[in-house]
Amino acid sequence: MKNSHFSRAGFILAASGSAVGLGNIWKFPYMAGEYGGGAFVLVYLLTIVCVGFSLLVAEILIGYSGEKDAVSSFEELAPKKEIGWKYAGFMGATGLLIMTFYSVVIGWILYYVILSVIFLPTTMEAAQQGFGDLVGNQAWTQIVFHLIATVLIMSILLKGIKGGIEKTNEILMPILMLIILGLLLYAMTLDGFKESLRFFFVFEFSKLSSEAITQAVGHSFFTLSIGMAAILTYAASLPRRTNIVKAAFWVVFLDTSIALMAGLMMYAFIFEFNQDPATGPGLVFISLPVVFSQIGTLGTIFAVLFFLALAFAGLTSAISIVEPTIEYTMNRLEWSRLKSTLIASAIFFIVGVFTLLSYTAEYGAIFTFGGLPLFDLLDKLTTNVLLPLGGLTVAIFVGFVVRKERVYASMSEFVSKGFFEAWYFNIRFIAIPALVFTLLNLVGIIKI
Ligand code: PFF
Repeated sequence: MKNSHFSRAGFILAASGSAVGLGNIWKFPYMAGEYGGGAFVLVYLLTIVCVGFSLLVAEILIGYSGEKDAVSSFEELAPKKEIGWKYAGFMGATGLLIMTFYSVVIGWILYYVILSVIFLPTTMEAAQQGFGDLVGNQAWTQIVFHLIATVLIMSILLKGIKGGIEKTNEILMPILMLIILGLLLYAMTLDGFKESLRFFFVFEFSKLSSEAITQAVGHSFFTLSIGMAAILTYAASLPRRTNIVKAAFWVVFLDTSIALMAGLMMYAFIFEFNQDPATGPGLVFISLPVVFSQIGTLGTIFAVLFFLALAFAGLTSAISIVEPTIEYTMNRLEWSRLKSTLIASAIFFIVGVFTLLSYTAEYGAIFTFGGLPLFDLLDKLTTNVLLPLGGLTVAIFVGFVVRKERVYASMSEFVSKGFFEAWYFNIRFIAIPALVFTLLNLVGIIKI
């Protein structure tokens, strides 16, 4: 096996490492809190089962069959006359946009790992003030931690697929899962756990707003790393004769279970200690530290472990977000891995500084557009627009552009004809209309 290739298990870990990220442990719980608990969770789960899984198979298929960077893989699979489809591979660039806020948040998390050891706030006001101060006033602290995050990400990427990406995932993913599982087991002993279960699984249809649907669908893409060629790029380095459907199943299974486990665990703590579930993006940085401080020494250990798990989740995703750009520049522009990594990292680091400044009191106004701070603008643009658009592109390409026999050939060995037909139908007649509907809902042409 070539050194530039994953092992089969290594791929599943790396792809799950990509999927399980800040989206699961930071975003999912606070979004569920903001958009109506069970109603949000229902749309999120439905999108994953009805559309996400099929699209993930489609993305893996493109990378696995193309065996190259995203642009070359689209080019390789497109029929001769439709070679323009190669440009679809540029969806990988969405990754650089995501990284401009993703790396900033990893920076906050690293800061909170240290903070947890030194001092945990004991009241909600103190916690709010602490986080507000970091984000609103301490630009330099944030820049330093954003830089540390960038350097960590770079140092993994520089070592390439096998020695960098696969190895890191092999070490960090099992630790991350153990930490979340351990915290969940503890949380299950609390009375707040029942309330947490109710919060996640009781659906109140009155809470199902148009906005909640857009957010839930967008988040399903974000959490499965769909729509920007991340797992597609990893799949290009899969050994031949890999069962891509099984691989996709594992990624979806691990990603969804970890999100639900993390969410249930956090809300059990939050309800137990009477905190507010709808604190927004500050949830893990404000409510949780207070909760942990009330548990005493054990709480400090929980806090450190929790933020470490969050940092690991962020790092294993971040590398997958940058890798498409690196593979593209290496393959098509013949840059070295060193040059590609340095340039890609410099771009997201620099724009990331503007992103973090958009939340500060001093510079916020300069980096706010149409009432939205650059941070929120980039988050919403990527999650709600670019990833669904990328997903739609993948679905149209696999469902209508690539020859059906070619699509079938890449999985015929592993799935029955019936399964293939059902999946193919899903891509063509469920995923595409669902995505078009979501995008129209987003621009307000359809309103629910
Ligand atoms: N799936 C990651 C998360 O949930 O945090 C984020 C992500 C990774 C989005 C890779 C997109 C991507 F291509």
